[in-house]
Formats: sequence, structure tokens, C-alpha cells
Amino acid sequence: MDFTAKMLRDDALKGKNIVVTGGGSGLGKSMTKYFLELGANVAITSRDLEKLKTTASELEAETGGKCLAVACDVRHYDQVEAMLQSVLAEFGSVDVLLNNAAGNFISPTERLSANAFDTIIDIVLKGSKNCTLAFGKHWIDSKQASSVILNIVTTYAWTGSAYVVPSATAKAGVLAMTRSLAVEWAKYGIRSNAIAPGPFPTKGAWDRLLPGDLKDQFDLAKKVPLKRVGDHQELANLAAYMVSDFSAYLNGEVITLDGGEWLKGAGQFNLLEAIPEEMWDMLEAMIKAKKNS
Ligand code: HXC
Ligand code: NAP
Repeated sequence: MDFTAKMLRDDALKGKNIVVTGGGSGLGKSMTKYFLELGANVAITSRDLEKLKTTASELEAETGGKCLAVACDVRHYDQVEAMLQSVLAEFGSVDVLLNNAAGNFISPTERLSANAFDTIIDIVLKGSKNCTLAFGKHWIDSKQASSVILNIVTTYAWTGSAYVVPSATAKAGVLAMTRSLAVEWAKYGIRSNAIAPGPFPTKGAWDRLLPGDLKDQFDLAKKVPLKRVGDHQELANLAAYMVSDFSAYLNGEVITLDGGEWLKGAGQFNLLEAIPEEMWDMLEAMIKAKKNS
């Protein structure tokens, strides 16, 4: 089996209109490409319109799908409302909001200015809230029968993580929003779910989380029980399923896609992996010898 193969049938997202925030680069771009291949119309949004236009033309040429570039800084509610109106004007309706835009960098927390902390909270938590609120109000007012919110979080949304504290704080809030609205907005036909990816190399993340030779010093693949990082198509396959009608009963769930990474860090005795195979006979004998002593 090839884990980089495309999973869903060709028409799985036919007729769906999807908005991907931060869709001009990295994982947002990879998910957008697969959504287009599956027949969706996709609007990609971020702060950099030129980058978005380049990505949209590239993906349209590659997939034959329709990809709309709309500038929008998710930190500003008025820009989010304007982005939604542009998408509605072009597509007529919108079915899926994928909150993927994020900001992050490593830093000891005490070195951060108040503005630095706010910047990450504003992009990740306030940005996801702004999009969720604007799209949710629209769906509820227009009595749309079914719609989907998919949020990209990370596994440290529940474990926390040193050196990326604003991001961990914000992603935890996004996860709480996902689960809360899954219940509250189900009556309007709105499903809310999240994906928590492990390490999936992208320029945006690696430049800010593993700058310089940190990428060689801290090889993230080594932290993963499956001994590799994720492939973008693996994430795109899961995201496509979660925004499709095949997942109509999936609501309030966070699906971890990390090769077992966070659990390896969590299990108290996982460090025993370092023990060579040949030592286990001796250890077993030592333990059994204590039985009646
Ligand atoms: C300390 C920093 C800093 C750093 C910026 N600041 N970088 N402080 N260490 N490395 C401070 C600035 O000095 C400023 O505070 C404040 O943060 C805002 O910085 P600006 O550059 O003015 O902000 P802005 O132009 O809005 O850029 C936002 C950004 C930038 C987050 C700082 O990196 C960005 O555009 N990121 C978008 C893409 C991204 O981050 N992708 C990675 C997502 S990866 P002062 O006080 O000086 O004004 C991810 C992975 C999760 O989320 C899990 C991985 C396994
Ligand atoms: P990325 O390429 O840097 O993606 C982040 C995107 O967010 C960019 O396209 C950026 O575009 C956009 N963005 C940033 N600030 C914005 C703002 N204020 N308004 C609108 N858009 C904004 O990094 P990535 O690795 O693909 O990350 C994508 C998502 O995956 C993020 O939610 C991240 O937390 C999550 N994630 C990634 C990994 C990983 O290993 N890569 C692991 C776990 C979770 P502009 O700069 O053009 O605005």
C-alpha cells in the first residue's frame, strides 16, 4: 500500500464550495489541491494576495478546478465578513470552512513582548473565532441544510508545550471551540471537527520552529514511533474525508495524525525503548528473583 496515494473517489467533493484560510502555502495548499482534484470549488485566503494568486493559477492549471484567491487577514472581523461576501458573490454559497491559517515561532516565553504573544493568539484563536462566527451566522441566517467547520490544531492543544506557549494556548482554545460548537450548532446542520497533525514538513513551520541547523539537531522523525514525518497527501486524504458527506456522522471529534508521536512523549516507561533486546532476559530474571525475597 502506498500511503501517498489519493484515497477518495474522484467526485467525492463535487458541488462543494470550500474556504481554506492560509491556503496559499504549506498544508493549506496541499489540502486545497486535493479538494480541487475531488471536484470542489476552493477559495484560498491569507494576507498575501500575490502569493494566493500564484497558488490559485498553479492549482487550477494542475487540477482543472476552480480556485479563487481572496485577501483576508483573519485577525480583522470586517475583513473576514468581506471575504465571505466575495466567496458568496463568486460561488453562490459556501459549504465548508477550513480554519488552517496560523502564526507561530519558538521562544522562551519570558522573552516575548505582550504584542508578540497577542500576535499568535490573534491569528490562531481570534482568527479562527472570526471566521467561525461570520460563517456560522451566515449558515444559520440562510438556513443552509448542512455545513462543515474543520479546524487544524496540534497535539500540544491538550498536552501544552514549552517554547511555543502562545500557540499552545491558542490551539487549546480552538479545540474547545470545536467541541463546544459541535453540540451547540448541530441543530443548524453545522458539524465541527478538528485534525491534530504531528510533524508535516512545510517551509512556514520549519523556518520558524526549526531555524538554521536546529532541523538537523532535532530530527522530528526520531520522535515518532513510526520513524517518519507525515506526507501531505496523508493529511489531505483525512481532511477531504472530514469535509465530505461520507463523514456526516462525525461531529466534535479531533483526529490525531502523528504516527504516535504525542503518546510516545506521554507514556511513563516509553523510554525503555532504549533497552537492547538482549538485556530483556537478564531483566526478567532479576525481576522474578525478587518474587519471594
Ligand atoms: C520573539 C517575535 C519573534 C520571535 C516576531 N516576534 N517573531 N518575538 N521571537 N522569533 C514579535 C515581534 O517582535 C512583534 O512584537 C510581534 O512578535 C509581531 O511581529 P510582526 O513581525 O510584526 O507580526 P506579523 O507581521 O503579524 O507576523 C506574524 C508572525 C510571523 C507570526 C510573527 O511569523 C508570520 O507571519 N507567521 C505566519 C506563518 C507561520 O507562522 N507559520 C507557521 C505555522 S506552524 P513587538 O513587541 O516587537 O511589536 C504551526 C505548527 C504547529 O503552527 C505545530 C508544529 C508541530
Ligand atoms: P504555513 O505554510 O506557514 O501556513 C500558515 C498560513 O497561515 C500561511 O499561508 C499564512 O499566509 C497564513 N496566515 C498567517 N497569518 C495570517 C493572518 N493573519 N490572516 C490570514 N492568513 C494568515 O504553515 P503550515 O505548516 O502549512 O501550517 C498550516 C496549519 O497546520 C497551521 O494551523 C499549523 O498550526 C498547523 N500545523 C502544522 C504542523 C506542521 O508540522 N507543519 C503541525 C501541526 C499543526 P500569509 O502569510 O500569506 O498570510
